[in-house]
Formats: sequence, structure tokens, C-alpha cells
Amino acid sequence: MTAGTESLVGRRLVVENLKSLAVYLLFLQAFASGSAQKEPYGVELGDFEGQTGLGVTGKVYAVDEKNLYIKDFTYDGKEDAFFWVGTDENPSAEGIIVKYPEGANNTEEPRKLPALNNVSFLLRLPQSTTIRSIKSLAVWNPEKTESLGSVVIPKDVSVPVPKVLPEFSRLAHDLRSGNVTILDARTFLIPDLHYDGKGPDAYFMVGNGSKPHGKGTKVPNELGDLNVLRAYRGQTIAIQLPENLTVYNIDWLVMWCIQYKHNFGYVTIPKDLNVPPALGQNKIGVLSRLILSLPRSSLWIAKSCVLSPRAINNKLSENVRHQ
Ligand SMILES: *[C@@H]1O[C@H](CO)[C@@H](O)[C@H](O)[C@H]1NC(C)=O
Ligand SMILES: *[C@@H]1O[C@H](CO)[C@@H](O)[C@H](O)[C@H]1NC(C)=O
Ligand SMILES: *[C@@H]1O[C@H](CO)[C@@H](O)[C@H](O)[C@H]1NC(C)=O
Ligand SMILES: *[C@@H]1O[C@H](CO)[C@@H](O)[C@H](O)[C@H]1NC(C)=O
Ligand SMILES: *[C@@H]1O[C@H](CO)[C@@H](O)[C@H](O)[C@H]1NC(C)=O
Repeated sequence: MTAGTESLVGRRLVVENLKSLAVYLLFLQAFASGSAQKEPYGVELGDFEGQTGLGVTGKVYAVDEKNLYIKDFTYDGKEDAFFWVGTDENPSAEGIIVKYPEGANNTEEPRKLPALNNVSFLLRLPQSTTIRSIKSLAVWNPEKTESLGSVVIPKDVSVPVPKVLPEFSRLAHDLRSGNVTILDARTFLIPDLHYDGKGPDAYFMVGNGSKPHGKGTKVPNELGDLNVLRAYRGQTIAIQLPENLTVYNIDWLVMWCIQYKHNFGYVTIPKDLNVPPALGQNKIGVLSRLILSLPRSSLWIAKSCVLSPRAINNKLSENVRHQ
């Protein structure tokens, strides 16, 4: 990270985002209880509907506040058309382009949608838009001001949201943390993590049963490797379960020393979760860079564990732009 003016401005922006986020996440949590959807793609919003013959087909899901998943999408690519979100149920010129593919170079003019034959992908909503702030997603031809197919976003859609858990229990080696958050079905955010680094054979592990034990599965650290854990001094980290597991088939996350069968501290995973599916919207490498770039002054928020998905998403889209 360079410490130029630009990054200082960036940091200030992140702090502002984080402040509004604290409120935002509390708000989300108020809506989070209730429905127990564990759909593999999120909450289904509907199918593209349009004039027959224009041939836009596909199903749209809400993954989280910021991401849509488009499944089995087909379009012939013959017009100068774009994905388009607006605040009207009937798509109109009042809207903005959603870049496809995700991660397209943001310094470039948006590219028109190519022909796509039955493909599935994530769409990250642009700028400050969220699923709550839009009413429709369309394939839109701005020149003809014409929709080739659109989906109305239902008013009362209950979008999966991250789940805030308690902190790690404090059993050994000065392990402590802020409240652990499940960002999506495979990703944990652990804020303000402390650990003295003195366990000779310590790992993050997950498994089944009422208490942690050594027969679980190792979880890679925030760098994505399975080395013995080193000391943490208040870092906020994100870790991701191996591909074969989700939060729905584990009972606990522990920091465990295999050699001495020693439990340093753990969190229990609740059974009634409705978190966003893990479709790659939280990329661990990008998350680590994001978290490293957070200013120390925002740590108070991390401590109360309200590093919100919106902050992360804003920062992620910045990163994507700069890639
Ligand atoms: C982004 O697009 C601009 C303009 O086409 C180009 O100059 C630049 O090299 C691209 N950057 C990346 C990372 O692809
Ligand atoms: C589209 O792909 C899905 C798999 O993602 C497959 O089940 C489906 O049959 C395909 N549809 C068509 C029309 O080829
Ligand atoms: C953090 O966890 C504690 C329980 O350990 C809980 O009482 C508190 O509400 C949590 N904080 C947030 C912000 O959810
Ligand atoms: C926990 O048990 C479930 C089935 O009950 C299984 O699918 C899952 O892989 C187990 N988790 C671990 C970490 O062993
Ligand atoms: C999941 O995969 C990891 C390796 O990626 C393996 O070590 C572990 O045994 C697997 N766990 C389960 C429960 O299948």
C-alpha cells in the first residue's frame, strides 16, 4: 500500500462508509431473522420476461445486498444492449449500466453484451445501488430506449445477510477476538484477533458435535495456506472453508493445537442460518487486501464486529476497478 494522498482520501472514505455501515448492519439484522432459505444461488427473484423473439432468457437470484446471480442466461448479442438497473418496475432511460463481465476494466467504456448461450454468472450492482434500491433489472438498448427482457425485483424480497456470532471463547494462549461474522456460506470474518502464536501445532478447524475435537477439518488461514498459525495482534482477518464444506454442515469453528489436543477458543455455529450463498462474491485474496488497507481508526468498528458487507463490497468494486 502506498501512502499517497489518493490512498488517504480512500481511507477517509472507507471510515465514512464504515460509520454508516454500523447502522446499516443493525438494520439488516432486524430483517434477518425468520425465513430459513438455504438456496444454492440465493433468493429467486424471477425469470427474464420480454417480447418473444428477442430471446433473452434466464433466472435471477439475489445473492446478497450487492450481488445478483444470473442463471442459465441466453441472449443472441445482436443489439447494442447492456444490463441495466432502474428504480422503476418498467425499465426506462432512468437507469444505470451494470458491467458485464464482472471485473471489467472500469476505465473503459462499458462493453455491449456479447452473445451468451446458457451461461451463469454473478452481477455486482454498480455504485451505491443495492437490491433494495432498485426495482428492475433489464437487458436494455439505450439507443432505442428499449428493453429486450427484464425482471421486476419484488418489494418484500428477503435478501440473505451475513450473520454476527459471539466472539471466540477465551480458553488459552491469549486468544480473543471481536464478534465473528459469517459473511457467506463459506467465509468467516474475524475482527480484532489476538493470539500469542505459541501453540506449536495450531490451526483453525471446523467440525461436528457439541464440543471441538481434533477430528475436524483444517481451515486455511487468511493467506489461504495451511501453515501453523502465527501470532495475531488485533488484525481483522477473513478465512474460507474448503470447497467441500459450508457453515450449514459444521457445528463449531475452533483454534486448536493438534499435537496437544488443546482448545484455545471457539465459536458455535447456529443451526438456523440464512446467509448468502458462497458464489465467489467474497474473494479471500481481495478481502485480505481490503482488510489490510483499513485504517487503524476504523478498528473500533471491527471490534464491535460491524464491518459491513456494504463496506466490503464498495471496496471490492474499487479493487476490481484497479485490477
Ligand atoms: C483498462 O483499459 C484501459 C483503456 O482501454 C487500458 O489502457 C488499461 O491498460 C486497462 N487496464 C487493465 C488493467 O486492463
Ligand atoms: C443450460 O445449462 C443447464 C446447466 O447449467 C442445463 O441444466 C440446461 O439443460 C441447459 N439448458 C439448455 C437450453 O441448454
Ligand atoms: C456480539 O456478541 C455478543 C454475544 O457474545 C452479543 O451479545 C452482541 O450483541 C454481539 N454484537 C453484535 C454487534 O451483534
Ligand atoms: C458434519 O456432518 C455432516 C453430515 O451430518 C457432514 O456432511 C459434514 O461433512 C461434517 N462436517 C465435518 C467438518 O466433518
Ligand atoms: C474437505 O476437504 C479437505 C481438503 O480440501 C479434506 O482434508 C477434508 O477431509 C474434507 N472434509 C470433509 C468433511 O469432507
